[in-house]
Amino acid sequence: MQLCIALDLPTMEENLELVKKIGDAPVWLKVGFRSYIRDGKEFLENIKSINPQSKIFLDLKLYDIPNTMADAAEEIALLEVDMFNIHASAGEKAMREVMQRLDKFEQRPLVLAVTALTSFDEMTFESIYEKGIKEKAMQFAKMSYDNGLDGVVCSAFESKMIKDATSASFLTLCPAIRPFGEDASDQSRVATLEVARDEMVDFPVVGRPIYKDIDPASKVEKILKVIKTFHS
Ligand code: C5P
Repeated sequence: MQLCIALDLPTMEENLELVKKIGDAPVWLKVGFRSYIRDGKEFLENIKSINPQSKIFLDLKLYDIPNTMADAAEEIALLEVDMFNIHASAGEKAMREVMQRLDKFEQRPLVLAVTALTSFDEMTFESIYEKGIKEKAMQFAKMSYDNGLDGVVCSAFESKMIKDATSASFLTLCPAIRPFGEDASDQSRVATLEVARDEMVDFPVVGRPIYKDIDPASKVEKILKVIKTFHS
């Protein structure tokens, strides 16, 4: 299990301040739309110069026609980030083209597919996808696995099921983690680190419980300590 911290603060300066506080801890840092659109490559370079140990997950959720997605995937690989994601609903052809395009890179980033956005309630999801969230998430996960992706973004409560249906090495990255049962805020189905472990989550994503803590560095340390016990 590897901790992934969401850099969701409003400005680049605040995000970099958080990265500095975290120090050289071996963590993944999630860069989303807002920061990347505003601060771009410079932000990624700044992160790397503060913590060269950290790994970067570019959370841009690509969704377009296959060729455009493959073009974007290639540009992302050139940024030398360690992981990015696409929407599974872009389809199998898009998945294959993205993976084929990354073949030429000696060290390509990991590619994950978003199954179902956690903001959907069951009814809204069904009105778009004509299936329930769980069923569709499983279908999307199998499709991603069959087309050579490295894993999926899913709810912690679907992680084990997805691994059982694909492979234990097929990665799961799960938001809405409240490591020690902190306030759920706007997330509906939150999981603790213990639940994440039982569900075999590879990357628990934690945002607010870290950056809203009065001492983010100690919080990260505390989380890493617990994760370490899972591996021993
Ligand atoms: O602050 P919190 O720990 O809830 O942050 C969760 C992070 O995961 C946020 O960056 C949010 O945008 C992201 N995310 C999510 N649900 C998804 C995909 C991403 O909460 N399905």
